[in-house]
Amino acid sequence: MLEKFERYPLTFGPTHIEKLERLGAHLGGKVELYAKREDCNSGLAFGGNKLRKLEYIIPDAIASNADTLVSIGGVQSNHTRMVAAVAAKIGMKCRLVQESWVPHEDAVYDRVGNILLSRIMGADVEMVDEGFDIGIRQSWEAAIADVKAKGGKPYAIPAGASVHKYGGLGYVGFAEEVRAQERQLGFAFDYIVVCTVTGSTHAGMLVGFAKDGRERKVIGIDASFTPAQTKAQVLAIARDTAKLVELGKEIVVDDVVLVEDYAYPAYGVPSAETKEAIRLCARLEGMITDPVYEGKSMQGMIDLVNKGYFPVGSKILYAHLGGAPAINGYAYAFRNG
Ligand SMILES: Cc1ncc(COP(=O)(O)O)c(C=O)c1O
Repeated sequence: MLEKFERYPLTFGPTHIEKLERLGAHLGGKVELYAKREDCNSGLAFGGNKLRKLEYIIPDAIASNADTLVSIGGVQSNHTRMVAAVAAKIGMKCRLVQESWVPHEDAVYDRVGNILLSRIMGADVEMVDEGFDIGIRQSWEAAIADVKAKGGKPYAIPAGASVHKYGGLGYVGFAEEVRAQERQLGFAFDYIVVCTVTGSTHAGMLVGFAKDGRERKVIGIDASFTPAQTKAQVLAIARDTAKLVELGKEIVVDDVVLVEDYAYPAYGVPSAETKEAIRLCARLEGMITDPVYEGKSMQGMIDLVNKGYFPVGSKILYAHLGGAPAINGYAYAFRNG
C-alpha cells in the first residue's frame, strides 16, 4: 500500500511480536495475548511509535530544504524526544515547544525523562504555560514564525506527527508488517489494541487493516480524556490517509472504535487502576508501560479481557508504542513500587 511513498529508514526493521504468556494465564487463559514491541524499534533515543510516522515525513522535510524541525508536545512528550533524535541524526536543528499538559507532583518532572533526553540531544526547548489540547496550537505557530524571523528554514511537525499529510502512513505500514508476520506465525490476530491520543497511530492502523476487513478490530483505548476530539481526529486522518494510499473504500465514523473508559482522571495522570496495570505487566512480563499512554491501554486491555469483551480463544495483539522514559517523571507515584 506504500510503494509509491518515499521512506527514510529510522527503525531497525520489523518489530518483534512476543506472547504475553504469564499475563494471559493470570487473566484466566481464555484469550491469547501478544505484544508487538514498537517500544524497541530503533537505536534512536529509546525509539517508539513516532519513528514509524517520521520515516514517511522526513523525506518531505529534506526535500523542502529545511534546516530546523519544529514540533510541540507536553513537557514529557515522547514525540518531541523523537523529533529531537531524528533532527540530530539527519543533521538539522530542532525547536520544541513543551506545553504544560499535565498537572504533575514530581519536583523534577520538567528535568528528567523525555525532556532531559531532548536537551541532551541539543534541541532548543521552550516551556509554554498552556494546557492540554491535541489541536494546532498558537505557541507552535509562533515558534515556526520565530525560526523564520531569525533566518532559519523551519519544517513544521504537529503534535504526535498526526495532523500532517503523511502522518498516517507509518501505521499503514505496521498493518502490512503484521500481515507478513501472521503468514510466518500461521495465524491472524482477531484484535489489535492501541493507545490513542493525537490519532495517527490508530488512523494508520485502521486504514492498513481495512485492506483485509479488520478496521473495526483495531480497538483504540483513549488516553486523551478528550475523546470526542480524539475520535474526530482519528476519523479525519484515516479518511485522508485512505485517499492517499488509494484504499478504494470509504472510512466511516463507526470504523473508529475508541474505548473511552480508561483515560481518567486526566491526560497524563495515572489512576490507581492504571498504576496497578503497570505493576502487573511489569511483574508478570518484565515489560514496562508508562503512566501517560501504554499503562492506560494496558489497563484497558486487561479490563476488557476480564469483562469478556473478547470472545474465548481470541488472539489479541497489544501494540506497545513506547513511552517508558516518561516514567522518570512519576517517581512519587511509584515510590513504593
Ligand atoms: C508511547 C505513546 N503511546 C501512544 C501514543 C498515542 O499515539 P497517537 O498520538 O498517534 O494517538 C503516543 C503519542 O501520543 C505515545 O508517545
